[in-house]
Amino acid sequence: MHPQRKYSLPAVPVTKEGIKIYERDLGLNVRSLRGKAVLDIGAGYGKFQEECQELGIPVIALDPVYRNPKKVSECFEAYLKVARNRRNKIVGINETLPFRENSFDVVLSNCSSFHYLYLNYPRNRRYEMAKEMFEEIIRILKPSGEARICKVRQRSKDRIIYDTALKKIAKQSYPNISWKFVTIVISRKLDGKKSFGFEEYLVLHKLAKGVH
Ligand SMILES: C[S@@+](CC[C@H](N)C(=O)[O-])C[C@H]1O[C@@H](n2cnc3c(N)ncnc32)[C@H](O)[C@@H]1O
Repeated sequence: MHPQRKYSLPAVPVTKEGIKIYERDLGLNVRSLRGKAVLDIGAGYGKFQEECQELGIPVIALDPVYRNPKKVSECFEAYLKVARNRRNKIVGINETLPFRENSFDVVLSNCSSFHYLYLNYPRNRRYEMAKEMFEEIIRILKPSGEARICKVRQRSKDRIIYDTALKKIAKQSYPNISWKFVTIVISRKLDGKKSFGFEEYLVLHKLAKGVH
């Protein structure tokens, strides 16, 4: 694990997505999570966690905003008011995950640490931080585990940063990983008009030993 980092909360827009959006934007089938150890990084309100809980699928939610409601900004206090169920909500950041290695079958990150890399860190530190965040996810994933991360911002350098960081990790420390970027078409309704846009998510596999 990396030494504890100081973390100041960024001005991240508040969202409160549940199963429907997680399934769409991460290419996920929630029923496949049954019986698995699941972590949601940057879970925010924890709506996804609550909806999974209702289906009998426990999910650990991690977010820096669970730290101390008194110290966070008004917008983050709102998170805590809505977060009715504080059980399985853990304070933490992707850069330093407070879990032992090989702890989770599935790690999810919807519109969170990677998406806000550009808000949290200056341009010259994004590569280093992306690498650190991937290393942490891979460390806590069990062999055969997978991570799903979105949104990979299109028309930005993020995708190149992620790919380069993962190539370096695969070369240096974890030769047993594989990953792919998946493009999806999202339809939106804006001012009563339907439009389409492309988005990407990343699927990362930590392969069992001996599998290449
Ligand atoms: C836009 S919200 C998304 C919340 C939830 N995943 C959803 O889809 O509704 C982004 C969340 O990411 C969290 N976040 C930002 N940077 C993070 C980091 N480095 N590690 C963990 N969480 C982070 C923020 O605190 C915020 O709650």
